[in-house]
Amino acid sequence: MPPTLRSSSDSPQTPEPSRKTGLILGIESSCDETGAAVVRDGAEVLSNVIASQIRTHAPYGGVVPELASREHLQNIVPVVRTALQQAGCSLEDLDAIAVTEGPGLAGALLVGVMYAKGLAFALQKPLIAVNHLEGHIHAVLLEAKKQQQILEQPTLALVVSGGHTHLYLAEEAHGSWRYKNVGRTVDDAAGEAFDKVSKLLGLGYPGGPWIDWLAQHGDPHAVPFGPITVKQKPYRAAQLQSPRFLFSFSGLKTAVLRYVQLHDLKSSIEARREALAKLPDAKPAAALEFCDTGTLNLIASFQRAVVDDLVRKTFKAAESFHAASILVSGGVAANRELRQHFLSEAKKRRLPVTFPALELSTDNAAMIAAAAWPKFVAGDVAAETLTAEPSLPLG
Ligand code: KG4
Ligand code: ZN
Repeated sequence: MPPTLRSSSDSPQTPEPSRKTGLILGIESSCDETGAAVVRDGAEVLSNVIASQIRTHAPYGGVVPELASREHLQNIVPVVRTALQQAGCSLEDLDAIAVTEGPGLAGALLVGVMYAKGLAFALQKPLIAVNHLEGHIHAVLLEAKKQQQILEQPTLALVVSGGHTHLYLAEEAHGSWRYKNVGRTVDDAAGEAFDKVSKLLGLGYPGGPWIDWLAQHGDPHAVPFGPITVKQKPYRAAQLQSPRFLFSFSGLKTAVLRYVQLHDLKSSIEARREALAKLPDAKPAAALEFCDTGTLNLIASFQRAVVDDLVRKTFKAAESFHAASILVSGGVAANRELRQHFLSEAKKRRLPVTFPALELSTDNAAMIAAAAWPKFVAGDVAAETLTAEPSLPLG
């Protein structure tokens, strides 16, 4: 069966790009989305195509690496072809091919890296390797360029997704970007906590959009999940040259599990799981009639605790590092309450916060092509030995 493709771009109807220079084809396959996009000058998204694997992984409540690799293999050719068609250009028009090198799932990354290497070799075009986390940061820079907004520097970037919760101090010098990692999670990523709590409560996958939508119907203060504290071992604190901001979400997930056990919610969760399983392609709104007030309050309180923690620590880090602006990216950046909370705090503290467009919050290839642009201009081309780097750090 051909993959279902989702696409977003500034000008999806454009038959021909008016200027066939500065074109980079981005390829993303680090997790469960196969993406290809054509971006001009690192700023203008001509096409942005995604084949999502949600349907494949949903029955398991999480990404199954083997299945992900297999789907990337099936999807990568039609996704790239569609991205070129929508951008109105051919392979020959491209100036470079950019690909996600890591971090991510090894087998999934390899599909994109090997495909991009083959393409670059056959076309004799430069190949640019991009860190997925840097890609998420450039999703915000794309939005800032589109809004003609100047991002004051240094900027503090919160990258918050299914696999990552990181804080980076980012600065541009002579056209290239430098990153310093100043915060991270010690256990689960925030998106992972959304996914696990959603599964625990018999809701859908990925969990973020379900919890985001249902939380609007609950009382966020009903369950008093306290502020999340992370104990830093003294010897480690001494080793660190700069203050580190640590996140932790596995304790909160366990607190939700305890609440479920204490309040005997197991049978109602099972009933909800079964009811939703009978509705193929059910959207979060479908779950409302299967959630009682107590469950909706639990969902809203969980989300409030995650959002409060992310906002509080990000502003604290921004203050500590004298950041002149904040940017928030990654799948969890699509969360409504997170955006509202960040924006109201930004107003209070007079520190601007920028988000990517909603469709560029989750994994996509436009952000990979955008992040590749400064590297392309600087002649930072990947070696022939390029391979997938599942644990590639940034900064
Ligand atoms: O950036 P992304 O597409 O993939 C990774 O790099 O991990 O992020 C996916 C994560 C999932 O955990 C998903 O539940 C979460 O982003 N997510 C959300 C929302 N939309 C997606 N979390 C909270 N609220 C949302 N609206
Ligand atoms: Zn991501």
